Amino acid sequence: MLKISLLLIFTLTASCQAQNECLSRDYGNGGTVCVCNSDHCDTIPAPERLEPPQYLVYTSNKAGLRFQKDVGTFEQPSENAENEIVVNSEQQYQTILGWGGAFTDSTGINIGSLEESVQEKLLRSYFSEDGIEYSLCRVPIGGTDFSTHGYTYDDGDEDLDLKNFALVEEDYQYKIPYIQKASNLTNNNLRLFASAWNAPKWMKTNGEYTGWGFIKPEMYQTWADYFVKFLDSYQEEGISFWGITTGNEPNTYLVPGNLIPTVGWNASEQGEWIANNLGPAIRNSVYSDIKIVALDDQRMFLPGFVDTALENGTTSEYVDGIGVHFYSDFIIPPSMLDTTHEHFPDKFILNTEACITIPMFTVPVDLGSWERGEFYSDDIIEDLQHWVNGWVDWNMVLDPSGGPTFIDNLVDSPIIVNTTAGEFYKQPMYYHLGHFSKFVPRESVRIDSVSNLNKNIEVVAFQRPDNGTTVVILNKNESAVPISLVDESRGTAQLELSEKSITTILYW
Ligand SMILES: *[C@@H]1O[C@H](CO)[C@@H](O)[C@H](O)[C@H]1NC(C)=O
Ligand SMILES: *[C@@H]1O[C@H](CO)[C@@H](O)[C@H](O)[C@H]1NC(C)=O
Ligand SMILES: *[C@@H]1O[C@H](CO)[C@@H](O)[C@H](O)[C@H]1NC(C)=O
Ligand SMILES: *[C@@H]1O[C@H](CO)[C@@H](O)[C@H](O)[C@H]1NC(C)=O
Ligand SMILES: *[C@@H]1O[C@H](CO)[C@@H](O)[C@H](O)[C@H]1NC(C)=O
Ligand SMILES: *[C@@H]1O[C@H](CO)[C@@H](O)[C@H](O)[C@H]1NC(C)=O
Repeated sequence: MLKISLLLIFTLTASCQAQNECLSRDYGNGGTVCVCNSDHCDTIPAPERLEPPQYLVYTSNKAGLRFQKDVGTFEQPSENAENEIVVNSEQQYQTILGWGGAFTDSTGINIGSLEESVQEKLLRSYFSEDGIEYSLCRVPIGGTDFSTHGYTYDDGDEDLDLKNFALVEEDYQYKIPYIQKASNLTNNNLRLFASAWNAPKWMKTNGEYTGWGFIKPEMYQTWADYFVKFLDSYQEEGISFWGITTGNEPNTYLVPGNLIPTVGWNASEQGEWIANNLGPAIRNSVYSDIKIVALDDQRMFLPGFVDTALENGTTSEYVDGIGVHFYSDFIIPPSMLDTTHEHFPDKFILNTEACITIPMFTVPVDLGSWERGEFYSDDIIEDLQHWVNGWVDWNMVLDPSGGPTFIDNLVDSPIIVNTTAGEFYKQPMYYHLGHFSKFVPRESVRIDSVSNLNKNIEVVAFQRPDNGTTVVILNKNESAVPISLVDESRGTAQLELSEKSITTILYW
């Protein structure tokens, strides 16, 4: 009975909804989701370029606003504003590489469980100009914990020449078709990087996908060739890559009882493998320009693992960037990123994976949780303030339990699919990410932003390649906060940040 009347209300709300607005649903978890189905999905029209002194403001908040657009006008500077944020484009920092998520098997399985018109809305939500315009995504080389079973591209007997290397059903069903559609929605402007979780068992010292196992030294070259074979196989499907990482989480073998498919690496041995095998294999291939991204593991391994792995100058020359995961960020200070940048000023730093997990949070999926969205943008702003060049999320789409995952490693995702209802839910995490990804295009440069506010208010600013300025402000306060945004070249914008909100200000 209750269910029926709720359904009625949803249906009625839907019919009154303007075409691009959020169809809001509250699951009682401290925030709301936007529901998308065959009839409806909220979109964000591309921002129109305003002439000075006007600026655009987009607001999302815990109360339910989603990318609400307003227009304001810069005024003359006021003296001694109480809550002041000063933006200065003369002072410039790192260049932005992009934003995105991962084409895991689970992502593809969940997208594929929807009817085609709903699939299209989902992909548009992430990739199109009326969505949040993802630009940099990760593709697993073979299986991960977000697969239905463990596998590689050369299971079976020892095969030193990789004669039996072949893509599998998962690539053709769950990855390639959605990568192609996503790329099309970005006008073929989507950059991809690939990461391997596990190696064939016959290459591993322990003969297993997981546990305390490393690549056998006599297999180092074969393992490097395996990466090139992967690039060849995707190239045959018309998919090319911007980067590869040296392997997902080389330190995960240290976790007792770990079930995640993994290749363990000792830092100095990985350095030798890059110098002698992976680096030459890539640079002597047709993919010689591809970015090689080292570490691909938690902030807690900075700078030590990278210092050791890249100690040899030959290794360091092969490596373009350093990949960092988000899971230890709440205990490890961002100064580790600064130290890493000081040691390797010419290498980019990319957040290559993030998601909300237990035990940090109590349940895998918490539909509508604003807190989880805030957790994302808090981390993004912290990373960006400490030399990180881009931020890539983990699974783009999961089911309401947080899977599928064959090792029961259930987690949350910005989009959750409900197959029974034929609909999907865009969570606050999706909108928090979108406040950056949509308004801070690739090749934007971070600029200085200084605030006299306390830690409840976080800010980061960018100069875009079209010379626009984007300022993103997170208000974690339980009440509204009036602020003065000062840009000497424009004037002062008087804004009120609503309670528990994220705001993007955009001007030219
Ligand atoms: C996207 O796909 C459509 C339909 O196949 C095609 O007409 C269009 O040219 C494609 N766009 C790009 C940028 O590839
Ligand atoms: C890596 O392995 C080598 C040789 O087994 C050992 O000497 C070295 O201490 C190890 N380094 C690390 C960082 O574990
Ligand atoms: C760096 O690695 C290369 C390739 O393994 C090796 O030839 C060279 O001796 C190493 N250099 C140092 C200083 O260890
Ligand atoms: C998914 O849809 C079914 C059918 O409408 C419904 O019973 C169920 O509660 C929905 N699940 C969620 C998490 O909304
Ligand atoms: C941005 O500004 C610079 C310097 O003022 C100018 O040279 C460039 O053409 C501008 N670019 C665009 C896209 O407007
Ligand atoms: C946050 O809220 C409290 C009261 O809830 C208020 O005293 C404080 O000034 C607010 N502003 C900031 C920036 O934290």
